[in-house]
Parts: sequence; structure tokens; C-alpha cells
Amino acid sequence: MSTPPPAPLPKSARKKVTIPALQKMKAEGRRICMLTAYDYPTALALDEAGIDAILVGDSLAMVVLGYENTLAVGMEEMLHHCRAVRRGASAPLLIGDMPFLSYQVSPEEAVRNAGRFLQEGGMDAVKLEGGRERLETVRRIVEAGIPVMGHLGLTPQSVHRLGGFRPQGRTAEAARRLLEDALLLEQAGCFSLVLESVPARLARLISERLTIPTIGIGAGAGCDGQVLVTHDLLGLFERFTPRFVKQYANLHAEMRRAFGEYIAEVQAGVFPAEEHSVEMPDEEWQQLLAEIRS
Ligand code: KIV
Repeated sequence: MSTPPPAPLPKSARKKVTIPALQKMKAEGRRICMLTAYDYPTALALDEAGIDAILVGDSLAMVVLGYENTLAVGMEEMLHHCRAVRRGASAPLLIGDMPFLSYQVSPEEAVRNAGRFLQEGGMDAVKLEGGRERLETVRRIVEAGIPVMGHLGLTPQSVHRLGGFRPQGRTAEAARRLLEDALLLEQAGCFSLVLESVPARLARLISERLTIPTIGIGAGAGCDGQVLVTHDLLGLFERFTPRFVKQYANLHAEMRRAFGEYIAEVQAGVFPAEEHSVEMPDEEWQQLLAEIRS
């Protein structure tokens, strides 16, 4: 069964953000802004707000689908959400997050799945987690012409091995390994690197040593750019809020207020009011009454 091709790109007033454009931002010391999106309206608002890059993160497993961790989502769900995001945003660089087991089994499978993100999901690039153990996979995907963003530090797909969602690289030995992994991923061809939940001074050091841009989440201000999970930023994910998140809104509370008001108004007969209803011309109504009476 073949999947329909992605919808044509929506029009945006902004110029398309490309990978060379991100490299230039690093060279010029301009910070890169990235956020996650999983649906059309969020993608549209992010594009209009001027975001540089959108990550269709596998965090959707937790913040949209309600799973315990990110291991539960697969390729089909990721592609479904990528297509929605692509329909909403055209200017930002669009990055699809490769889900658990879509790239770990073999480099061949990884290339095929990465290709699906571009071909069927309409993404511009993919992201995958891991360091030295992923070099061959990264090289093969990049050789296929597909840009790869790396992801080091707290890598949520390894939550069980890491023993929870906890900061990484806090000993000299672990920090050295992270720095080595970052350099190796750059050599393997990654165009950028996410650094998640690592000490701020380590992230700054890695960012200075790399020529590719780093995007930090819980990694301090020394990275070349920042990313957050949009549902955390908006206060839409109530289960827990990591320490590194800044909430710019509390949309969960706002949703609960709006839903409560709707329920109260329906129960009281206040909604729908006249302005929310449609009517038929009087003569048609009279004709109907005459017909059903006879
Ligand atoms: O899945 C995701 O949203 C991510 C970000 C936290 C970087 O990987």
C-alpha cells in the first residue's frame, strides 16, 4: 500500500531556513530558536512567530499521546504528525525525530526510515539519539543525502539504561566521553547536535569545539541555539515539568477554565444564544407548519 505524497508547502512570508543558514547563524553568533510541534495549528503559529526550526519530536508520545516515555511511538505515528506540521509551516527547517527501533536495528533500515521522513513526512532532516555507537548509521544516512541532527546527553529512548530522566555528563569521565562523542558525530556528518540535560559549562565547551551548531535543552546559555518541548513552554503538559523548562503560559489552566465555562453555559441554557443559531425564512416555516398540520 503506497502512502500519499506530502501536501504542497503552504505559503509563508518568510524565507526558507536552510542548513547552511543555521551554520551561518552560528558563525555570526546569532542564536538559533527551535521548538517542537506535532500538529498543524502549532506549526502555523510557530512559523508566523518566526521560529528557525521545528522538531517533530518523539516527545509527542508523552505530551500528546499520554505514554510514560518516548518508546511507544513508531514510524507511522511520527509520519502522521510530520505531515500535519508540514501543512502548517514552510519557512522553518523541519526535522523529524526518528523513533525507537527505527534506526538501531541496522544502517539499512535506518536509511530507509530516514528517507521516509523526507519522502512521506515532508521533513527537511532527521534527528537520532546516541554517540559513538551511531557513527556508521549517521554516515550511511548522510551519504544518502539526508541531513542528520545528533542528540547527546539525556537521550530519552535510553531511559531504562540511564535509570530515569536524569542529567548526564556530570563526572569528568562522563563529560570527556560526551565531548568525544560530539566530535565524532560532527566528523560522521551531523549538521547539528542537540545537547540535553548536561552541565552548562560542558555544553559551552562542546559548542566552542564544534563547527556545527549545538541546540541546548537543559544545557545552559552557551549553546548555539535552544529548544524546548512546546507543551512544556505552554503549560499544556501537567504530569511533570523538568527544572530546565520556563513556562511562558498556562494553557492547561486556560483550557480547563474554557471547558468549565462551556459546560456551565450549556447546562444553564445560555449557550447557544441566538447569534450562534441559524434560522429559516418565516414563509418557509409557515409552509412547513401548514404541511405537517394537514
Ligand atoms: O523529542 C523531543 O522533543 C526531543 C527534544 C527534547 C530535543 O528530542
